[in-house]
Amino acid sequence: MTETLTIRRPDDWHLHLRDGDMLRAVLPATAAHFARAIIMPNLVPPVVTFAQARAYHARILDALPQDADFTPLMTLYLTEDTDPDDVAAAAESGLVHAVKLYPAGATTNSASGVQNFDSIRAVLERMAEIGLPLCVHGEVTEAEIDIFDREAVFIDRVLDPIRRATPGLRVVMEHITTRNAVDYARAQDGTLAATITTHHLVINRNHILAGGIKPHYYCLPVAKREEHRLALRAAATSGEPRFFLGTDSAPHTDANKLLPCGCAGCFTALNTMSILAQVFEDDGALDKLEGFTSLHGPAFYRLPVNGDDITLEKTAPTLPAQIETAEGPVTVFDPGFDLKWRVV
Ligand code: DOR
Ligand code: ZN
Repeated sequence: MTETLTIRRPDDWHLHLRDGDMLRAVLPATAAHFARAIIMPNLVPPVVTFAQARAYHARILDALPQDADFTPLMTLYLTEDTDPDDVAAAAESGLVHAVKLYPAGATTNSASGVQNFDSIRAVLERMAEIGLPLCVHGEVTEAEIDIFDREAVFIDRVLDPIRRATPGLRVVMEHITTRNAVDYARAQDGTLAATITTHHLVINRNHILAGGIKPHYYCLPVAKREEHRLALRAAATSGEPRFFLGTDSAPHTDANKLLPCGCAGCFTALNTMSILAQVFEDDGALDKLEGFTSLHGPAFYRLPVNGDDITLEKTAPTLPAQIETAEGPVTVFDPGFDLKWRVV
């Protein structure tokens, strides 16, 4: 008999859906498996105000396949001009579930992000008051800091000072990539959580660079040494509620990935559940998969867990290597091993 695994329907606590044709092309992959996702606001121009988030929310609903049951959880892009009252109104509406902090220049479309962290103090204080989480892209941007050290330096120089200055602020360290981040998260109270992507559980920096450069493995924060990947695997499969899934699935066309200065991002929405089942099984932790994908996230975001289930069966999935979009093909993340589990 085929082995099966039934778990609560999962959510994705960090997702890039883009807009327009790309949104229409990638949304079905997420909506097929996930009930909800925290939607990143780094569009061009970014989703800064409540009004912009409302409009983007409507465009996402409009792009959903007809039979889909999917709820986008919107975020606001934090700038130095963000108005605390607008943030409070957005949270009050129930549409917006977090504010996203991009240090200016840290990654794709982050030019309007924050340079002077003192200028966001009033917004952070209001968020602490109302319990609205701050999602953090945790990398410093100083040119002299080595790209492989940028997360660890951010924790010391930016994240920890912000949290000390704003008691009660609820923070999600997003797409953590280092043992340093795992250790930091473990040492904090329940106001802090961390998301982990699918791809950072699978690749280290050798996968990007050894034996030829692999643009499809380039993302930000960039994958680190093997010891860090192993720390992430241990955290994800530990069952600790502070760690949960945020895929950071970030589609770019192949044309934009394969440039001399290619875009950062791995498109994992399509095969994340198959890859994760394999990762958790390989680590003897299939019983911890549901917590990571379906229980810990809602608990942190103070939302109910989903009412329905999904079932995976141990049968090789047939998945395309690319999806077609009106802007050109987008390559699906290749974990480098054969997948044995599929969502039925
Ligand atoms: O790899 C990434 N891609 N990391 C990010 O932080 C942004 C994302 C994107 O929007 O393409
Ligand atoms: Zn992201």
